[in-house]
Amino acid sequence: MIFEQFAAGGCQSYLVGCEKHCVAVLIDPEISLVDRYTAAAARDGLRILYLIDTHTHADHFSATQQLAKRLSVPIVMYRSSPAPFVNLRLDDGEMLAVGDLRFKVMHTPGHTKDSMCLLVEDRVFSGDTLLIGGTGRTDLPSGDPDELYDSLFNRLLLLDPATKVYPAHDYQGRSHTTIGAELTSNPRLQRRKREEFVTMMRNLELNMPTHLTEALRTNMSGGKSVAQMLTEASEAVPFMSLEELKAQCELPANNLIILDVRERDAYQQGHIPGARLLPRGQLELRVNEDLPDPTQRILVYCELGRISTLATATLRQMGFDRATALDGGMKSWREAGYPVQSGIE
Ligand SMILES: [Fe+2]
Repeated sequence: MIFEQFAAGGCQSYLVGCEKHCVAVLIDPEISLVDRYTAAAARDGLRILYLIDTHTHADHFSATQQLAKRLSVPIVMYRSSPAPFVNLRLDDGEMLAVGDLRFKVMHTPGHTKDSMCLLVEDRVFSGDTLLIGGTGRTDLPSGDPDELYDSLFNRLLLLDPATKVYPAHDYQGRSHTTIGAELTSNPRLQRRKREEFVTMMRNLELNMPTHLTEALRTNMSGGKSVAQMLTEASEAVPFMSLEELKAQCELPANNLIILDVRERDAYQQGHIPGARLLPRGQLELRVNEDLPDPTQRILVYCELGRISTLATATLRQMGFDRATALDGGMKSWREAGYPVQSGIE
């Protein structure tokens, strides 16, 4: 078995492959590691066959859709997953064949209704059902402490105590544990009576994960996160540095249109000398009037450099082939002590 574990901000993901047949799966891939996964698979001579999410993640962004598009391979989840883009839905007891490896599904609801664990050879990928020294929380959408009790005590913990456990999260840099070690030392598993366990889970009072709504929105719908929108836009446009823009402004004659896409009041308080105002919210509405010549060179800026990147990508999609985004924004322009003009256009 070829096995590699990846960590990103407490999220654990796994590349697991069959050496003989040069095929592999990715389990719980995270969006920031997309290039690392594909690079690792290429380095190991593995073709990724399946992208598996052990459950609907509420606390991080799944990379399954991006990788599915890039690699043209199916996304695999438990049968009841609410995500519409799942290509292969598995039921309890079913297996995925990956070369000589067999990944067996164990439906373990509790953290979410669609949670599953995957058993292969000497190990189990436990998702957020069982963590090292902890368990998945049960207070997020579709969580249920009663179901988690059954999934743990009447299913997962009945596995051979020597079974290695690889969870979807660990915030302390640990790689894995075993069923036996967790039975002995996991504090939550010492509450072996259902009522005690359920009461404890109901009273954990954990903070809501950051990006909860955005993670659920994107992981359940197939939509993009704000970070993805920005990454894609920044890959589609060229940038100009603050220094270069300042030098361009100082030229006696230049035909660069400097476009301020912030709101009117921000523009009035201070803008780059010579800049025109075209707020992002009005871009598509006013573009034909305000920018009649699509061959002109346009430099777009905003306050921080993010909205301007999106606006530049939009302009390029509309045919403004020389639209460029400022690498930075008005904030860094002011901080650099560069000239600022105030007042209306
Ligand atoms: Fe989770």
